[in-house]
Amino acid sequence: MSSAATAEQLPRHEDLVDERLVRWWFFAALLYIAVSMTGGIIMALQLIHWSPFNGIELMSAGRWRMIHTNAVAYGFIACAFLGVLEWAVPRLTLQPVMSRKLSYFIFFAWQAIVLSTAAAIIIGPTLQAQPWVASLSEKYHLPMGLGAQGLEWGETPFWVDPVALFGLALVAANFLTPIAKSKGPTYVTLWYFMAAFVWTFLTYAMGNFLPEYALTGTSAGAVSGLFIHDLVGLFVTPLGWGTMYYIVPIILKKPIWSHGLSLVGFWGLAFFYPLQGIHHFLYTPIPMFLQYGAIISTIAVEFVVATVVINFMATLWGDGRQVVTNIPLRWFYCGMIFYFITCFQCALQVTLTFQKLIHFTDWVVGHAHLVMFGVFSMWIFGMMTYLFPRLLNREWHSRKLCEWHFWLSAVGVFIMFLDLGLAGVFQGYYWSSLQPWDASVNGSHPFWVTRLFAGLMIFGGFVCFVCNLYMTTRPSTATSTVPVPAT
Ligand code: HEM
Repeated sequence: MSSAATAEQLPRHEDLVDERLVRWWFFAALLYIAVSMTGGIIMALQLIHWSPFNGIELMSAGRWRMIHTNAVAYGFIACAFLGVLEWAVPRLTLQPVMSRKLSYFIFFAWQAIVLSTAAAIIIGPTLQAQPWVASLSEKYHLPMGLGAQGLEWGETPFWVDPVALFGLALVAANFLTPIAKSKGPTYVTLWYFMAAFVWTFLTYAMGNFLPEYALTGTSAGAVSGLFIHDLVGLFVTPLGWGTMYYIVPIILKKPIWSHGLSLVGFWGLAFFYPLQGIHHFLYTPIPMFLQYGAIISTIAVEFVVATVVINFMATLWGDGRQVVTNIPLRWFYCGMIFYFITCFQCALQVTLTFQKLIHFTDWVVGHAHLVMFGVFSMWIFGMMTYLFPRLLNREWHSRKLCEWHFWLSAVGVFIMFLDLGLAGVFQGYYWSSLQPWDASVNGSHPFWVTRLFAGLMIFGGFVCFVCNLYMTTRPSTATSTVPVPAT
């Protein structure tokens, strides 16, 4: 859009953004995170022998662990970011998506993909045990069976994989079209979004086809490591940072401090991130030069991350008070601080010295929660807190509930992170001192109880959010005496 363009020449917001669809994506995301957290609590209860579901196969921790992680990645995070994309891409490019009908198709297809994955995880093994299913699998040479496959985040059954990949191609086409048609500048946000469309497609293909069909042994292991890590780094991270580059300048009403540093961040991520994945499998038979390469690029990416965080902190300079008064901005900056902590932690834990102690311990689980919940989910909740008043055309019912949501989530995840980190150190020492396995399990018990309560805090925050949303949507209670300042 030329600088001479007047407000009348700009396309109308209603012609660009389908607000109903953004709402649908957000509601779907909220449903999936509710299921995921329930799964987390079921597992946490089981680990401390407090589970009311003992002996019920369908409620076993093994199945619910997969539901927990898949519902978070493909349910909550993917749906929420697709909602954000439906809002942000047309507004940034001043072009509608390629096709609204396609957007709706993608919405329903995505729900079908997530729900069939969940069904395969829950009832797949039971189905597979039926003689007629077993004989069909044998007849048609289906080595993977109908249920989930044994690769974290690659559990999507083999019959869902091609559909999911096709869905990702449609998502890319739908959003790349307005970007290609745009006559305005290619904002840093759009760089990140474009990269995410391409990388996510490639990452999904790598993790869901190569280990199943083409590779075996350590090669399959190496690719699996790349897949798990790239799913976070090349799907969630560029969508997350792209969203931050979009929303923070809008809220602060000023540009990002340094465009040059933004580019360092983007290209640093593009260059170093894809090399890191094997750090999940240090001390394995994967060739050492690959392990060392992964370690060095992991440490390198921390420097890149530092430049991005410095850039955002410098942008905030002079407006720090807004983090107190503006709740969405608080979610964003809290997520950035957690991002810095988790990446700094990564630079330490990736060294072989550190790995000797914490490999396969709960340290890693603590790290995973800080990244997935403490960073990306915080950004998503910040976006929801910012957008829902616009999508529903009314202020939040209660600022207090918004505050409770934030504080219970932030404190809960930080406790979980500290608790599991400490548990990991203890477990490492138990194992390296060659004590019986039971000793480490007994020693972990207090940490696992603490994890449960930290999880309940996070869940409590979520309940506050959902209640607030419900009250906000109710016409009779929609007016708030203290509206949440969203911008
Ligand atoms: C209600 C709170 C939660 C509880 C009680 C909880 C509990 C758990 C438990 C028990 C595990 C399995 C750990 C193991 O295998 O030893 C786990 C794994 C995991 N959780 Fe959660 N969780 C919660 C919320 C979340 C949220 C909100 C997210 C992301 C947004 C998340 C992301 C993950 C991930 C990525 C893993 C896999 C970790 C790994 O493989 O290292 N969790 N969680």
